[in-house]
Amino acid sequence: MPRKGLKLSLWCVCAVLKTVSAPFLHRSVMGTSLSFPSLEPSICRSPSASFRRSRMRFRQSLASLGFAPWWPFFLTFAFWKLSWLCGPYYCMAESEGFVVYDTNTFALARDPQGRTLITFEDDSAQILLSRTLGRGAFSKVKFGLRTFTDESGRHEDQYAVKKMHKLSLEKNRCSVYDDEGIPAIANNLEKVRMEISIWRQLCHPNVVRLYEVLDSAEEDYMFLILEYADSGQIMTWDTAKQRYVHSAALLSALSGPLEAVARFVFRQVAEALLYLHTLPRPVIHRDVKPDNILYTSKTHQVKLTDFTVARQLPTAEALCWDSAGTTAFLAPESMISGTPYSGQKFDAWAMGVSLYAFMSEGKLPFWDPEHELHMQLMIQNDEPEYQTGWSEPLDKLVKGLLCKDPERRTTLEEFLASSWHNE
Ligand SMILES: Nc1ncnc2c1ncn2[C@@H]1O[C@H](COP(=O)(O)OP(=O)(O)OP(=O)(O)O)[C@@H](O)[C@H]1O
Ligand SMILES: [Mg+2]
Repeated sequence: MPRKGLKLSLWCVCAVLKTVSAPFLHRSVMGTSLSFPSLEPSICRSPSASFRRSRMRFRQSLASLGFAPWWPFFLTFAFWKLSWLCGPYYCMAESEGFVVYDTNTFALARDPQGRTLITFEDDSAQILLSRTLGRGAFSKVKFGLRTFTDESGRHEDQYAVKKMHKLSLEKNRCSVYDDEGIPAIANNLEKVRMEISIWRQLCHPNVVRLYEVLDSAEEDYMFLILEYADSGQIMTWDTAKQRYVHSAALLSALSGPLEAVARFVFRQVAEALLYLHTLPRPVIHRDVKPDNILYTSKTHQVKLTDFTVARQLPTAEALCWDSAGTTAFLAPESMISGTPYSGQKFDAWAMGVSLYAFMSEGKLPFWDPEHELHMQLMIQNDEPEYQTGWSEPLDKLVKGLLCKDPERRTTLEEFLASSWHNE
């Protein structure tokens, strides 16, 4: 058989197998109720659910008309291919076995205490936003309690809800670069939409899950419904002390030497980053810092969050053109304007800065709050002060991650393979 024909038949077999297994795969994921138990009632307003319902009705009517049993599979395949052509959202949800819901029918109200209440038209669920978990430049992250009632009674689930004012985002102009390094002017709303389009593709135990996007033309605010990390950031910046302070919840949950806690935290950070970097279209986080590394005591896991400045590359070899993130965590090579740099090595450097701070009582390796330019020069030319109390493998790792030459810098794979993790 000619090579082209063989390839085509193989592709057809794979496509049929994928199509046949997709409904079962999806059902088993939803059935386990492990990854996404609480938003299940909202399935009735998701496009994926309505598609599944119509697919079932279609199969039933075909059977009543006496069509052969393989017909539904053929039609499913045609539908699947069509949805794939129409956009990546449905394809991703069904083929990867997880769903990110898009909801554009909701209403905002206030409860008697003045707290925001999100209600949905087509089911009995509501989300009450209470205490603030954190603030970003253009967002507030609130604790959200979702309640809903079904045949088995009333249920409650906890989420972190990122609340953003669309008009304020739209008014704020910023520059973005495309894959070829061509600059363009955008606004922060476009940037947030880019963040959402990246985040909706991600499903990893060490990455905060995005469950649902609430965005309605009638409402000024948009909301991202996120997995809640109950213990918050692994370290919090103390402005008075000009250094980070370790999370008491993390240290008490992981009693033992600080180096053992660091091993527990940074192995998971490296795994999250490696997952992002090895996606078919790699994602570079570009804002790895303790503020964006969360700990959840419920599942005893570390989770990476905040994809505000993340960039998705077309290929594993593609480079980043624009510098983004937080100055103290920027890799030296990203500061040379007009020169592209490897995003994978950039994230490894930022993880090195975070690990250094974690092991140095929260002090940053390069820090000058008064003069940003001086801080940049320090990053490019100076060596940080290293502690003497660390083990030799850790010392080697931190120095390797903070190597100014990106070509010689310790990679995430080398970090994970290091003997430090097996001590
Ligand atoms: N899923 C979560 N669970 C618990 N706390 C969270 C969660 N997500 C965010 N937070 C808290 O809210 C803070 C701000 O969130 P995030 O970094 O996503 O916002 P941002 O607007 O992107 O911020 P930035 O200005 O850093 O880009 C975090 O540093 C953290 O303290
Ligand atoms: Mg942040």
